[in-house]
Amino acid sequence: MNVSFARKVILVSGGTGGLGQAVSLAFLEEGAKVVVTYRAAEGFAALQNVAGANSASLKGQQVDVTDEAAVVQLVDRIVAEHGRLDAMVNTIGGYAGGVKLWDLDTKVFDQMLALNLRAGYALSRAAIVPMLKQKAGAIVNVAAKAAFDHAAGASAYAASKAAALAMIDSLAADAKGTGVRVNTILPSIIDTAANRKAMPNADFSIWPKPEDIARVILFLCSDAAKVIHGAAIPVYGDS
Ligand SMILES: NC(=O)c1ccc[n+]([C@@H]2O[C@H](COP(=O)([O-])OP(=O)(O)OC[C@H]3O[C@@H](n4cnc5c(N)ncnc54)[C@H](OP(=O)(O)O)[C@@H]3O)[C@@H](O)[C@H]2O)c1
Repeated sequence: MNVSFARKVILVSGGTGGLGQAVSLAFLEEGAKVVVTYRAAEGFAALQNVAGANSASLKGQQVDVTDEAAVVQLVDRIVAEHGRLDAMVNTIGGYAGGVKLWDLDTKVFDQMLALNLRAGYALSRAAIVPMLKQKAGAIVNVAAKAAFDHAAGASAYAASKAAALAMIDSLAADAKGTGVRVNTILPSIIDTAANRKAMPNADFSIWPKPEDIARVILFLCSDAAKVIHGAAIPVYGDS
């Protein structure tokens, strides 16, 4: 199975996050040139540090991906520098929960839509432009199991992830026959440092590891997955 990314150019938005870091490192391991977006500079410095020798193939751009113009500029810069964009993986997202809809602060509702829906909209819209010209490329958007499993206290989060799933599904239909493949992955709780801190008494051993989810994402972006388009793939094992 060919999952080598030698000479491939990959954009990982949120590449310094719990999942994003594992995805960025996995692409680097397979020989890709990786551009990550981040907001906090120390997050990018930490990623460079973990990447070690592979950090020569790693670039970072500090950008707020809810700003559509900034995202277009980001993609333009990547194409100007590397001449192409082979895959875009959007790992940006946020969670807010534990509040009934009638107690929800509308600002939180808007934040969920901005992070979980609008960021993916801006990124997919910009990234697909060079891919359509190349007649090749892969987009993977990270939604969540909550896109269809709508728990109490998570109305804003569930709605934003459900909308993201629908948007990417529709984009996949738009992209039929173009050579660009578009898919969603659906994690449930992931074994990240932030989750361990938030739930110190949980059984971490049953949580899927970011590295295992990253392997699925790399597969989806590889030629080995050329028959997978418009899929929404659960990545929560049996947890
Ligand atoms: N963790 C889970 O248990 C879980 C469960 C289900 C689904 N998911 C989904 O999986 C994805 C990854 O989750 P995660 O836990 O890895 O998230 P995370 O650790 O919070 O990482 C999010 C990343 O996005 C960046 N970011 C946030 N807002 C941004 C903005 N406006 N512009 C640019 N960058 C921004 C953050 O950068 P800074 O740190 O610099 O702000 C960070 O690199 C998300 O879509 C999440 O909803 C996660």
